[in-house]
Amino acid sequence: MKAENVFRVMALGDIVGDAGRKLLQTKLIHLQRKYLPDLVVVNGENAAHGFGITKKIAEEFLNWGIDVITSGNHIWQKKEIFDFIEEMPQLIRPLNYPPGTPGNGFYRLQKKDMDVVVVNIMGRIYMEPIDCPFRAMDELLKQLEGENVLVLVDFHAEATSEKQLMGWYLDGRVHALWGTHTHIPTADERILPKKTAYITDIGMCGAVYSVIGMNVSESQRRVIQHLPVRFSPATEGELELQGILIDFDKKSKKPLLIQRIVERMEG
Ligand SMILES: [Fe+2]
Ligand SMILES: [Fe+2]
Repeated sequence: MKAENVFRVMALGDIVGDAGRKLLQTKLIHLQRKYLPDLVVVNGENAAHGFGITKKIAEEFLNWGIDVITSGNHIWQKKEIFDFIEEMPQLIRPLNYPPGTPGNGFYRLQKKDMDVVVVNIMGRIYMEPIDCPFRAMDELLKQLEGENVLVLVDFHAEATSEKQLMGWYLDGRVHALWGTHTHIPTADERILPKKTAYITDIGMCGAVYSVIGMNVSESQRRVIQHLPVRFSPATEGELELQGILIDFDKKSKKPLLIQRIVERMEG
């Protein structure tokens, strides 16, 4: 059930390859009926065979009822991205790429009378050394100063410490911040003291028998034998969809609750 005064956001972790897309397509209506989200965000950086996203896949996600598609370091891996990212504002790439990078780092939309900005930023620890995500957020929040808008952030980063630090940095300045990229959900969902909903990582949607969504034997060959094996997404066995729900008070925009969600199905 959902109370009248609640604006509910559902965010799902990185959709990995065919398995992740099949899971999303099969489970989305069920999730919408079960949780009645007002806004749905998914991370799509691994949707096209594990690396990047195509126009067809992104259009499918939007047709299924996804409001915003966030991404991360894999966003550029399907070359056609450069032909369509500018025409599809609902698909965002990290805000802290250097000036001149195609696409946008945030998307603003109206949903059920709520003015919402979804932002994507990316970390720098054990990742490409891009522009500072902290300063990028400072600049964006300066632009939004005085506006009555719900600000939601997908922080795509490897290090738990960097994500936690960003949580503290933005506490009370954004309404929610969730992590993506590691594909492993963390058990630290909470509302920070200044009323920002926070979780270090929301996980992924894809095969359970996998190494962060990718084929186990290929991963073993690459890591144990050091062979230049090409990764492909795992497809066999049970699939698991991982994400979060966050409830906000419609009036004050303060988070009331953050909880992890999991759905399983046979592959
Ligand atoms: Fe990912
Ligand atoms: Fe990533």
